[in-house]
Amino acid sequence: MKKLIVANWKMNPLSVSEAVKLTKKEDIKGAVIAPPFVFLESVEKVLKQAELGAQDIFWEEKGAYTGEISAAMLKNLKVKYVIIGHSERRCLGETDEIINKKLTATIKAGLTPILCVGEPLNIRKKGLLSAKTFIKNQLLKNLKGINLKSLNSKFSILNSRFIVAYEPVWAISTGTTGIPAKPEDAVEMHKFIKDLLATRYSLLAKVLYGGSVNSKNAESFLKNPEIDGALVGGASLKPEEFKKIVKIAEKYNDE
Ligand code: 13P
Repeated sequence: MKKLIVANWKMNPLSVSEAVKLTKKEDIKGAVIAPPFVFLESVEKVLKQAELGAQDIFWEEKGAYTGEISAAMLKNLKVKYVIIGHSERRCLGETDEIINKKLTATIKAGLTPILCVGEPLNIRKKGLLSAKTFIKNQLLKNLKGINLKSLNSKFSILNSRFIVAYEPVWAISTGTTGIPAKPEDAVEMHKFIKDLLATRYSLLAKVLYGGSVNSKNAESFLKNPEIDGALVGGASLKPEEFKKIVKIAEKYNDE
């Protein structure tokens, strides 16, 4: 399995020139750069090695939807991956039903979703079992009614076109604790997510870990075969940090 390191720049940086500068430094194989929508075109123009991702999507193709961006628009900009249901969007009112529609549109368009799931601190405090139940509910609601067969027939686990990012909300660097999950807990959750998707939907998914990943702790996550990569926030704005994380991931790629 080839590990994937996704840079979620969130609402950074502030200008095209800064975005281009950052891209040039982070343009390495095995990386996906997900800038804000307004920088997608400029970032794409300078990318040579890394792939392009978007941070959100809207489910209709075109029309009277002020402020929204469709799958067709993203495809025209050569976007390959779409982050969906990030906890920072769920926090602003994005529901499981909305995420379900976004996921449907993404898959229909042939883009690769990176579906974010993760439990809040009050749930995690009740233990790993409660966290698993919470994640299961998110996944079942987000995947409801979606035809996943098309993904399975064409792709193997090696180049799986369905990606889940397990991001415990509390572990995000700007979140409640800002402390990363214990790698062994993340491994257990990744196994749980993979088993659930395999048994319920015969779906082979890549599962990334997200939450305070940096160059110092990356190895403790990425060395585990259950962890197929990382979704990186804060450290993706520091090119040296980010490159180190991608290099660490490379060590654990099996062909
Ligand atoms: P941090 O890496 O800053 O914790 O952010 C994680 C995240 O939310 C990535 O999507």
